[in-house]
Amino acid sequence: MKTIDALDVPGRRVLVRADLNVPLDDGRITDDGRIRATLPALRKLAERGAKVIVCAHLGRPKGQVKPEFSLRPVAERLSELLGEPVAFATDVVGESAQATVGELGDGRYALLENLRFEPGETSKDDAERGAFADRLAGLAELFVNNAFGAVHRKHASVYDVPKRLPSAAGGLILTEVGVLQRLTESPDRPYAVVLGGSKVSDKLGVIDNLLGVADRILIGGGMVFTFLAARGHEVGSSLLEEDQIDTVRGYLRRAEEAGVEFVLPTDIVAAAAFSADADHGVVPADAIPADRMGLDIGPDSGRLFAERLTGTKTVFWNGPMGVFEMAPYAHGTRAVAQGMIDSGAFTVVGGGDSAAAVRTLGFDENAFGHISTGGGASLEYLEGKTLPGLVALEG
Ligand code: 3PG
Repeated sequence: MKTIDALDVPGRRVLVRADLNVPLDDGRITDDGRIRATLPALRKLAERGAKVIVCAHLGRPKGQVKPEFSLRPVAERLSELLGEPVAFATDVVGESAQATVGELGDGRYALLENLRFEPGETSKDDAERGAFADRLAGLAELFVNNAFGAVHRKHASVYDVPKRLPSAAGGLILTEVGVLQRLTESPDRPYAVVLGGSKVSDKLGVIDNLLGVADRILIGGGMVFTFLAARGHEVGSSLLEEDQIDTVRGYLRRAEEAGVEFVLPTDIVAAAAFSADADHGVVPADAIPADRMGLDIGPDSGRLFAERLTGTKTVFWNGPMGVFEMAPYAHGTRAVAQGMIDSGAFTVVGGGDSAAAVRTLGFDENAFGHISTGGGASLEYLEGKTLPGLVALEG
């Protein structure tokens, strides 16, 4: 893949695809990690005299202009972090975008409105996507993809624009790919993987692949209840994907044959309702009462997970252990994060939610080996899938 250094950028319009898909609460950015992660590439281009035109998506507005998904708050935060003005275009490729780009000086920054306000960005129809990519590429002379979190999407700004402009990979993509390559090709052992998050169906591919690579797989989060059910336990009103129970049973069997250790929680924090104020308590993982839902792994499990991370050399973690946004259910996620730090292993936190959890729970980001900006992207990489955004940069 070509790097930014290989592009002749001074005085030229450079379109940068960034992943600025940050969590928002009432228009307020609750975690700006993804914005900060993209700054070095933007600064590097501006310092070399490029006119830096940033494009990005926010949420899933599905081709419609929805004000709650506007990137305007992101433009403001980006400007604060860069310490420079960021001109904001109120459309993606329309009059505002063209005027904003036309007025941009060398070494200056602009941000276009949410790419996903345009149906062509995410269209499955090659011609529709291509037509939008023509207009987007038409704003610039060069292209840099720095949006690691979006490389698994076959979208116009990720897949089609690099076919239309001389292109390079931003530093963030190079760093992320380097780390994930190390995990897939030559992890120092023992290699432990901690998986959480709500749905096991999102993680099937990665579990399948990891059964041939990892030495130990620790499971928490909402997906654990399908594992507990597969072991024949009652899970009360917890999240359960019944149609995946057989698949999970198959994984447990394969793991045993391959000598991969599956670590499941021994206790669960179970609540009367999905709420921070609900009556809740710790119950054994094999005896969740029928009227209770599990919202976190319990304290014994937190200790067990930390203990199973001790002595490992590589740890990859994706997905919170519980509903960490609510204080009573944050303990498990905290325990895993602390266990990773204490393990002394090369630790990688993958995924928007787990990365946000690390920061919102107050951990020092530098205590981890690498915090990935890509949730789905890092999982699909670990699954061994071909990622359209990377293929396009190589082509
Ligand atoms: C992410 O949040 O993982 C990336 O920004 C991609 O977003 P998406 O899942 O909506 O494509």
